[in-house]
Amino acid sequence: MNILEIIEKKRDKNKLEKEEISFFIKGYTQGKITDYQAASLVMAIYLNGMTEDETANLTLAMSESGEMLDLSNIRDIIVDKHSTGGVGDKVSLILLPIVASLGVTVAKMSGRGLGFTGGTVDKLESIPGYKTNIDIPQFIDNIEKIGISMISQTMNLAPADKKLYALRDSIACVESIPLIASSIMSKKIASGAQKIVLDVTCGKGAFMKNIEDARNLANEMITIGKMVNRETICVLTSMDEPLGHAVGNTLEVIEAIQFLKGKITEDVKEVVLELGSYMIKLAGKGENIEENKQKMLENISNGNAFNKFLELVKNQGGDISYIEDTEKFEKASYIEPVYSIKSGYIQEINALNVGKIACNLGAGRITKEDNIDASAGIVLQKKVTDFIEKGELIAYIHTNDKEKIQKSKKQLIDSIKVGEEKIEKKQSVIEVLM
Ligand code: URA
Repeated sequence: MNILEIIEKKRDKNKLEKEEISFFIKGYTQGKITDYQAASLVMAIYLNGMTEDETANLTLAMSESGEMLDLSNIRDIIVDKHSTGGVGDKVSLILLPIVASLGVTVAKMSGRGLGFTGGTVDKLESIPGYKTNIDIPQFIDNIEKIGISMISQTMNLAPADKKLYALRDSIACVESIPLIASSIMSKKIASGAQKIVLDVTCGKGAFMKNIEDARNLANEMITIGKMVNRETICVLTSMDEPLGHAVGNTLEVIEAIQFLKGKITEDVKEVVLELGSYMIKLAGKGENIEENKQKMLENISNGNAFNKFLELVKNQGGDISYIEDTEKFEKASYIEPVYSIKSGYIQEINALNVGKIACNLGAGRITKEDNIDASAGIVLQKKVTDFIEKGELIAYIHTNDKEKIQKSKKQLIDSIKVGEEKIEKKQSVIEVLM
């Protein structure tokens, strides 16, 4: 077998065999297949697609490219949650302490942000002292002790995905259904998830721009889940405008803390409750979805969810005085108000543009090596369908780079459409597939 024949086969729209896919993944992970050869195969997959069998074989080969975690000795069923990515997506920070406070065991390995989408690990690391890179025995210890641990993906978990994801990102091949499905599911399988709830985002600030593609991606992941006996449920959610108000690491942590203390934003609530109620069901802690949502809301009201978040942060070495008093978080040097230049109803807040502006302000990485500025980002004061007067505050820009303020303000104003007509509010949860 050789890589040239495999590239040729996919280039000519033929189906790859299991052995050919394994050969590619092994060779690329070990450095025997070059980046330029892998890039041409990935581009051929991007252009010509893969069958369900090919995608499943790619997923398995990737999940077996490194360590496979076995969490079956932990007392409970491990239900994992993952999102296909979005702007202002602080859902894991809110959802996981809530379900953990209801007895769902949470063993979460998260990723870092790249490009316009954020990553939970960067957000957690904006809490002083919080350690995301603990080793596996410590991770398991934490789960046994308090029922929740949230860490970064270990170096040797699905290493093929790490290499391929970085490659895809550098050759404009991220938005591909077989490549996203295999990337996500390989990590979930390797990290020992027994059941999986996926937030499949759809819209301007998501990789899937329309509902058909989001549905196809969801169905592909559900099929892979069935093949490897890991029940998978997909919640399709809208990502046209940023989720909630804050975009940026510390800013999103603060919004998450406020949510857990009862200051609830409607769109975040809808997504959190839907995903959480299915996590509770899959964990065997509650059959009825509506009742599960009620239990989640109760645990916000009675403080149990917030206390679980405090316990999590403390257990991972974080300084809980920041969680108790969010004023302590370091602020950006410049917090600049942005005012509307028009009166009317907000018809659009383009999530992709807001994500890119926040990234440029320092909240995200353009390349993998970039450092994050934890305090940078945007806090929106309005949401789609709200009315705004000309001259009224629409957002704050947070940055440490004075040079970027004026351009970012203009870009932000250009990303928000204000018009006379009040458009209908879209549901944040589109549908649930299983
Ligand atoms: N998230 C992932 O983990 N992988 C992708 O390919 C896209 C989003």
